Amino acid sequence: MPTESALPQPPELSALPDDFVWGVATSAYQIEGAVTEDGRSPSIWDTFSHTPGKTYGGDHGDIACDHYHRWPEDLALMQQLGAQAYRFSIAWPRILPGGDGPVNEAGLAFYDRLVDALLEAGIAPNVTLYHWDLPQVLQDRGGWPTRETAEHFAAYASVVAERLGDRVTQWCTLNEPLCSAWIGHLEGRMAPGLTDIKTAVNASFNLLLGHGMAAQAIRAAAPNAAVGIVNNLSTVEPATGTDADAAAARRADGHTNRWWLDPVHGRGFPADMLEVYGVDLPERAGDLATIAQPLDWLGLNYYFPAVVTDDPNGPYPFARQIYRPGVPRTGMDWEIDANGLEALLMRLTEEYGARNLYVTENGSSFPDVVRDDGSVHDPERIDYLRGHLEACARAVGRGAPLRGYYAWSLLDNFEWAYGYDKRFGLVHVDYPTQRRTVKSSGRYYADVIRGHGERTPRAA
Ligand code: IFM
Repeated sequence: MPTESALPQPPELSALPDDFVWGVATSAYQIEGAVTEDGRSPSIWDTFSHTPGKTYGGDHGDIACDHYHRWPEDLALMQQLGAQAYRFSIAWPRILPGGDGPVNEAGLAFYDRLVDALLEAGIAPNVTLYHWDLPQVLQDRGGWPTRETAEHFAAYASVVAERLGDRVTQWCTLNEPLCSAWIGHLEGRMAPGLTDIKTAVNASFNLLLGHGMAAQAIRAAAPNAAVGIVNNLSTVEPATGTDADAAAARRADGHTNRWWLDPVHGRGFPADMLEVYGVDLPERAGDLATIAQPLDWLGLNYYFPAVVTDDPNGPYPFARQIYRPGVPRTGMDWEIDANGLEALLMRLTEEYGARNLYVTENGSSFPDVVRDDGSVHDPERIDYLRGHLEACARAVGRGAPLRGYYAWSLLDNFEWAYGYDKRFGLVHVDYPTQRRTVKSSGRYYADVIRGHGERTPRAA
């Protein structure tokens, strides 16, 4: 029997509203495995991860957490943690193996069963339609840099919303389009591994166009749907007081934050960034209005702040992130700064007029150690969690309309180019045996949820 280490007291979160939603999050390619089962076709991540040199140790998602087969066990873990909501993504290549065209019933049936079981367990499903696993067949036809992919995305959204929209109300179109566009098409560190600014800007445009088209399609199929988009944002500060660093911070903010927030809020794409990129948008009449569909909610994925210095000869946006001496970092080498989460929640509230905010991801990777008795004690992850939950409470105290928090992640999983080397889970996964073990941080999160519930008993 694993020993249970003593846990610190849950933080003081009295500012959080009574109906605050406590959730956990995952994504399809990172956990499902079963990549050739029941008619699924390859995604760009199958291709990328099987290309030598692209991921840590050649890791790929072929088996991952085997969630496709073990989902009942994973659902039981969510119940054990007391999670009230589960944010997961649908694998487009399971639903439309050809990218467009015939629907694969077996793929839909998988998510159908999952949604029914979640609801039966009292856990609200929060469905993300795109968490980076584009069908490879669509990449072969040009991928996100082409407009057709946005149109196919809307058609896929419609199929899923028609099937699940009678039971799912929370819908997210895209997860972190920044990663798809900038890391996938400019930096080349993620699928599809391209490195061209024009291609990347086109991809970013079509991703947001796809978001707008998909929002329309979801609402048409499921009138009660609450539709949102999820961005990963960072606070950006200049490293010094120089004009050059101030300008670099403005560019980095444009690249990371404003490029993704302004268009969906009806402000168009930031003109200063178009100048930095030096390319035109593939825009047609009416596209900006399509992109700016009303948002029922906005999701924030927060992990780290950015402090930048001018880097005129570096890659776009010519601003290099530096580390501040003495600031602690996670196992990803990301600076830990919970104040950044509070600041971003306030920015979304005050500058963008958000009405319903969710922290749709937040969490940390540390090199976990499995003790001889099989337990995993992860005080650093607990500390990160505590600090960021306190930041949420401070933001709520200052008026942020924050409705819920989803911990990233329920399980250790395939961390993209970092493979299985980096672990973010509240639950440890021993990949060779697929044994799941709730870490101390998972028990701590359960305490937090329980404590909040005891303060504010839910209606039966
Ligand atoms: O694992 C990822 C997730 O897929 C998207 N947001 C950030 C997480 C940690 O890197």
